[in-house]
Parts: sequence; C-alpha cells; structure tokens
Amino acid sequence: MRFPGWYTVPIVPKKTVPPSPSRLVRPLVQRIHAYVPGEQPKVKGLVKLNTNENPYPPSPKVLKAVRDAVDGRLRLYPDPSALAVRTALAALHGGSPDQIIVGNGSDELLALAVRAFAEPAGGFREIPLRSKEASGSMLQPIPESASRVQFPTPSYSLYPVLVETHGATPHPVPLRPDFGLPSVAELKKGGLWDFRAALTFITTPNAPSGRGYSTAELDALCQAQKGVTILDEAYVDFAGENALELALRHPHVLVSRTFSKAYSLCFQRVGYFVGHPDLIAALHRIRDSYNVNGLGQVAAATTLKDLPYYQRNFRRVIASRTRLTRELAGLGWKVLPSSTNFILAEPPTAPAKDWLEALRERKILVRWFRGQGIENFLRITIGTEEEVDTLLREVRRIRFHGADVNRG
Ligand SMILES: Cc1ncc(COP(=O)(O)O)c(C=O)c1O
Repeated sequence: MRFPGWYTVPIVPKKTVPPSPSRLVRPLVQRIHAYVPGEQPKVKGLVKLNTNENPYPPSPKVLKAVRDAVDGRLRLYPDPSALAVRTALAALHGGSPDQIIVGNGSDELLALAVRAFAEPAGGFREIPLRSKEASGSMLQPIPESASRVQFPTPSYSLYPVLVETHGATPHPVPLRPDFGLPSVAELKKGGLWDFRAALTFITTPNAPSGRGYSTAELDALCQAQKGVTILDEAYVDFAGENALELALRHPHVLVSRTFSKAYSLCFQRVGYFVGHPDLIAALHRIRDSYNVNGLGQVAAATTLKDLPYYQRNFRRVIASRTRLTRELAGLGWKVLPSSTNFILAEPPTAPAKDWLEALRERKILVRWFRGQGIENFLRITIGTEEEVDTLLREVRRIRFHGADVNRG
C-alpha cells in the first residue's frame, strides 16, 4: 500500500573512490625533497662536465679483470663483507680489515652512519640502569644533540636528505664567506655549532666549493667534537693532503672514501669508511648482507693493484684544473682555488644560469645549484685536455645580448 507523499528512492550503490596509494606513504617520506643528481643524458658528442666523474677510463687491468669475471659465477652471491678489498685497503692505509667497511658507493655508508649514530627526533630512548640498587633500563626523552646531524653549508646536498629520511634533525651551519672552515674558537663564538651533535659531516676538500682544509684544522675540530665525526674525503686524491690518520688516531672519527671519482669507477658503486672497529662493526650490523656487488669488488680490488695508473691521471686532472682556472680568470671569471676534480667559478656579466643554458646549447653540461648561496656560480668538472679546450673555445664565443662579455 502506498501513502500519499511517499515515493520510491532508487538504491544507487555509493561510488567508492579508491584511496590514493600516496596516502599509504609515511608523512615524513611525503615531505622529503629528494636529492637531485646531475643529469646523465645519453646524447652523442656531449661534453659532460656536470657530475664530477673522472674523464679517464679505468685502468686496462681493471677492465680486463671485470670482463674476465663475467662468467658462470654471476649466479653466486658475492663475498658478503668484501674481504679481499678490505684487506687490500687495510694494507694501503696501515690499519686492519676490521677498521674498514665497503659500501655500495660511499653514499650507502653515509646513510648507514645516520641510522647507526643519530636518534630520530622527538621520541624516547632506552638507557641501561647501572646502579647497584636497580637493574634493567629506563626511558629517557631523546636530547636534541642526540638527533642532530650537523654539517657546514654549502656542502654535499645529500646529507640533509639522509637525515630527514631517518627522522633526525639536519643542522646546517654556514661556512665562512670565502667557504673556509671556521676555527673552533669562531664556532664557539658563533653559538650555532653543536659540539655534542650525534654526528657531524665535514666534506674535505669541500664540495661544491672545491676548497681544501688542512689536517691541522680538521684535527682541532675533531678533538672538540663529542659525537661521531665523518670526514668525507670523496675528492681527496686531487688535494695536497688527506686526513686519514685522524680516523686511525681518534676513536670517534671516520674517514669516507670512494672509488667513484679518482678511480674512475662511478658505474660500479664502491666506497668505504675507515675508523675504529667498534664504529665499523655497528655499520656492518645494519648493512645489507651483500651490499657490494661482485663485479664492483673485482674492480676495486684490481684498482688497488694498479695505483700508479691512477696517480698519473690525478696529475693530468690537476694540470688541467690549473690551466682552466688560469684561462677562465683571464676571461673575467672569478674562479675559487680548488683541491678537487672540479672548480666553482662565477662567470662575468650574465647570471650563471644563463651561462649554464648557453653552454648547454653548445652541448656542454656543467652544474648550477639553486639555493645554498651559490646561485652566482657554476660548478665545472675537470674534463680531458680536449674537453677543457672545447669548453674554453665555446666560452670565448658566447655573447649575451650582443655584448662581447669576454673582453670586459
Ligand atoms: C662529497 C661527496 N661525498 C660522497 C659522494 C658519493 O660518492 P659515491 O659515488 O661513492 O656514492 C659524492 C658524490 O658526488 C660527493 O660529492
């Protein structure tokens, strides 16, 4: 029976909108600005001076060893702890294999260090009770310094990404205006630097400034730090001195090295840390079981048997760096002194970004960084002698707004 005023409402199934998968991602990860690597375009005839790769190939012995290793053993897992590479590195640096960990590039080890030594911010941590009356542990709010990962800025722009990913607190502290490392006294006076930070990264020589720091100033800083201090020596083979001895002398200091830059092995991803066995053991505990690929281990171990080949290449890169610095300065560029395989240089007349684009049109890739206070500069990797010739030739040809900028 129907009553007046009644009507039938057809039952339409409610449209369900499937939840966006991005809602399943942790808010912390959603907020992260990923590290932006330099481009790797596969364009023929490109002069690629944007990612600090070595312009010279690996030694013929390394290429042969890698080729010879491509056989039935690809079916097997590689050595889980890269023992042959660690043993050769220990002999080279005068330590023991338990003072070395090898990683999938030094980037992997930098990430492991953040996870091993810095607490995520804002939580609690367990403190063992050691008194006679009580045993067990208690929960303590995490002190600020325990989650602080500190680094001078500008420096390697991956550090803050690694720290944010872990939920720890990035703590950038400005370098001097000339990109020098402030002394301990200056850092104390400035009040920003945290001598108790859980972890401190010092890129030495620095990137992207190219500036080298003396072992004496690094030693003074290391001695003042209470937390783990990592000297990231990715470019040190192009510098006049290195600070490896500090990792062997101070129990809280780790030195980070890579086969990528000086040893022409970016493709294989091999880096390593040197330091106290207790810190190294902590990193081994949390790394992937087979973190270094087999061909990378073969390449790195063979590299260490052919060091004179690479030392010749360091000298060639340094000679090209000197020439490029001199010639660009003659064309009105402000070139900062470099201890690396790149220079940071401020071009004349037009903004650096315009130079970036003008060079790109001429098939020359260099790097420009937005932010970090270095927008007026270009970072230029040192190429082969021919690539440096090409760069200089094109720089001389570039005109902005019809003006001959290279005469002023
Ligand atoms: C300062 C610094 N540290 C570490 C790395 C990472 O090197 P790897 O190729 O060993 O991961 C780079 C790479 O550009 C770098 O510039």
